[in-house]
Amino acid sequence: MQAFHPELESWRPRLAQLAAQAVADQGPDGAHDLNHFERVWRNAQALLAQYREADALVVLAACYLHDLVNVPKDDLRRSSASRLSAGLARERLAALGFPADKLAAIAHAIEAHSFSAGVPATTLEARIVQDADRLDGLGAVGLARMFYIAGRMGSALAHGSDPLALDRALDDKSYSLDHIEAKLARLPGMMQTDAGRRLAEARLATLTAFRTAFAAEWTGITHVEA
Ligand SMILES: [Fe+2]
Repeated sequence: MQAFHPELESWRPRLAQLAAQAVADQGPDGAHDLNHFERVWRNAQALLAQYREADALVVLAACYLHDLVNVPKDDLRRSSASRLSAGLARERLAALGFPADKLAAIAHAIEAHSFSAGVPATTLEARIVQDADRLDGLGAVGLARMFYIAGRMGSALAHGSDPLALDRALDDKSYSLDHIEAKLARLPGMMQTDAGRRLAEARLATLTAFRTAFAAEWTGITHVEA
């Protein structure tokens, strides 16, 4: 972890307050609550330690405000959520007297963080924020979030007789477990920083081991050792 600049520590509680207010307005969502923003910022801190040339204040603000407007995954307005979040973040930060010369960089990092926006991350800060957010979809926490989100969308845990999709196409809308292979396994290759990719690969290994253990239990224990 890098040593913290006093400016970061003075802004962090105010940004957390903005994020907490947005969470309260949106209603309960255990996958996108204040803890998500805190974890994304901690992931970003690990990356910032490797990329000290990045503007940590831009990264901090984008981490806390990247989901200011949260649209569910199955909502048609999903692709515009990050653009709406970026615009609202600029307004809220300007109202707080945040350094004006950083607002465009923060807005870009927020807009580019999401898959569905289709906006390439063109700055180091945006690449760090995107990786930090995606890391929260991997590992043990990512697994918990995956099933939580699937539960809210009414998906089954897994396909009844073929949980590993050996003889069928993956279908992560219907079967939550399929999401590991359909999407999460691709995340390490999509990471924007080398440090993010290394962390992502380690966290994906947790998911892969879980998927194997899950399928073994799901398809039945054939015998019990004496
Ligand atoms: Fe997020």
